Amino acid sequence: MLEEKLKAVVRDIPDFPQPGVVFKDITPILKNATLCSEITDAFVEYVKSLDVQVIAGIESRGFLFGMMLANKLGIPFIPIRKQGKLPAHTIAESYKLEYGQATIEIHEDAFLPGTKVLIHDDLLATGGTVVAAAKLIEKLGGEVAGFSFVINLEFLKGEGRLHRFSNNVISLVD
Ligand code: PRP
Ligand code: ADE
Repeated sequence: MLEEKLKAVVRDIPDFPQPGVVFKDITPILKNATLCSEITDAFVEYVKSLDVQVIAGIESRGFLFGMMLANKLGIPFIPIRKQGKLPAHTIAESYKLEYGQATIEIHEDAFLPGTKVLIHDDLLATGGTVVAAAKLIEKLGGEVAGFSFVINLEFLKGEGRLHRFSNNVISLVD
């Protein structure tokens, strides 16, 4: 079962990037091409059922499966990046996450108003990052069709913060 395989390979790194945080290291997943395909396939049917038109992935780990998923579905991938990285006109949102604070940006012309967007990231912790991403999507007139994550750190209760944007939330391992 995919959930068991993921639990077996994701590494816990204590006190990274700061004391008290147990960091979930997904890099071992990336060494296993079959497992990467299984992850992507697990998202495909879900995303198809939501009639999603574009996948927005969040820098940097949200790019990994976000791009694979968009490519498999044959739909566009939109990068949401950390401040100062996107070259054209952008809008920005600042937020707090489990271990700090950041600002993310999206290109103003990333998609047309009314587009149904799935927001993808590798991991949901406090939800600060994806809430900021969802605000960016809505500021551009997009509709947040749902969220997908490889991992949900349930004890941080991030999922509850997403329902004001969409009730469609999938994670492969909690
Ligand atoms: C991590 C992770 C999510 C976010 C989750 O990204 O990839 O984007 O934190 O935390 P939250 O739910 O509390 O907001 P990070 O900012 O560490 O950047 P990275 O993907 O570049 O490693
Ligand atoms: N992003 C936020 N919290 C995290 C954690 N505990 N492990 C990996 N990525 C994270």
